[in-house]
Amino acid sequence: MTVTALGLPAVHRSSDRAIGAPPEPAPTTGPLVDTYGRVATDLRVSLTDKCNLRCTYCMPAEGLDWLPGQALLSADELNRLLRIAVTRLGITSVRFTGGEPLVTRHLEDVVTAAAALQPRPEITLTTNGIGLARRAAGLKRAGLDRINVSLDSIDAAHFARITRRDRLADVLDGLAAAKAAGLDPVKVNAVLDPVSGLEDAVQLLGYCLDHGYQLRIIEQMPLDAGHTWQRGSVIDADTILAALGRHFDLRPDQKPRGSAPAELWQVAASAAHPAGTVGVIASVSHAFCSACDRTRLTADGQIRSCLFSTEESDLRALLRSDADDAAIEMAWRKAMWAKPAGHGINNPDFVQPMRPMSAIGG
Ligand code: 5AD
Ligand code: SF4
Repeated sequence: MTVTALGLPAVHRSSDRAIGAPPEPAPTTGPLVDTYGRVATDLRVSLTDKCNLRCTYCMPAEGLDWLPGQALLSADELNRLLRIAVTRLGITSVRFTGGEPLVTRHLEDVVTAAAALQPRPEITLTTNGIGLARRAAGLKRAGLDRINVSLDSIDAAHFARITRRDRLADVLDGLAAAKAAGLDPVKVNAVLDPVSGLEDAVQLLGYCLDHGYQLRIIEQMPLDAGHTWQRGSVIDADTILAALGRHFDLRPDQKPRGSAPAELWQVAASAAHPAGTVGVIASVSHAFCSACDRTRLTADGQIRSCLFSTEESDLRALLRSDADDAAIEMAWRKAMWAKPAGHGINNPDFVQPMRPMSAIGG
């Protein structure tokens, strides 16, 4: 058996086969597995590519050409795919994302439908928090279990520079509403700005400890629409931890990580802040692809086996050509079977995917 650079045993790779033997086909039953033996149980669904912010590491100031309405899956089409994922492919958790999922009016209906599936999946949402203050309680009632709110700075001027919109107060209100609605835990996702990022991280952690939110800091990945990402300007996990360590007493969390991408730290209580945890997601400097359990569905009905896939599988075409559930299931299995070993960001021949994060779903 071959072992890849990521330490993954390649269970069915071509190198194991006799020369000239046909490639092994994707399995037709059982879990959603790839050729490296990883099993996908976590589905990320992008509900829209639209957004009301313009984060510099994601979108250009003028926005992007949004997908036309008829390109997007309807609520019925999406609900059918979710049913196939949960009842035929072993998906146990569904995360709705975007773009900004709160700009879709049918979010509550889609959550309600997902919560009615058997076995009921865990249902989570990644949002920028704008408009959440009005909708958090309703989303909780619809069946939402947990929430991640993206927030890169609690300094209003930094926030406005990073997102190109002066909406910090809306996001903070959204966070408070999520907590009041009983969404637990409330997580905050931060991508650090190359200029103010370390200062922002220290302030964010203090704020999150004070309010009982769990902060996750994510290394910036090459998923910006402008393809301007530069390795040298990414603030890496070690630098983040060193900066936090100067202000907080951090101890490594002892719990096993499983497939969770965040490396967790316990933060001791101090005179200034209560105790809590902080996570650092080293997507670039310490890739966790070998433990990946994700499959992704774009707002226009394409399956991506990886954020960085250069190929997509068109389930929308199947949905709109009267394909039966078995055919859709098999197309999804084939897409995941071809999942690459890893994102390859650190390889010299790395190619950034054509679609930016807003069109893939984080
Ligand atoms: N690198 C890392 N994280 C990103 N996000 C958006 N773009 C990037 C990127 N280039 C994050 C957002 C949000 C989630 C959907 O993904 O901040 O928390
Ligand atoms: Fe919108 Fe999220 Fe992209 Fe920011 S990172 S512009 S909030 S989709």
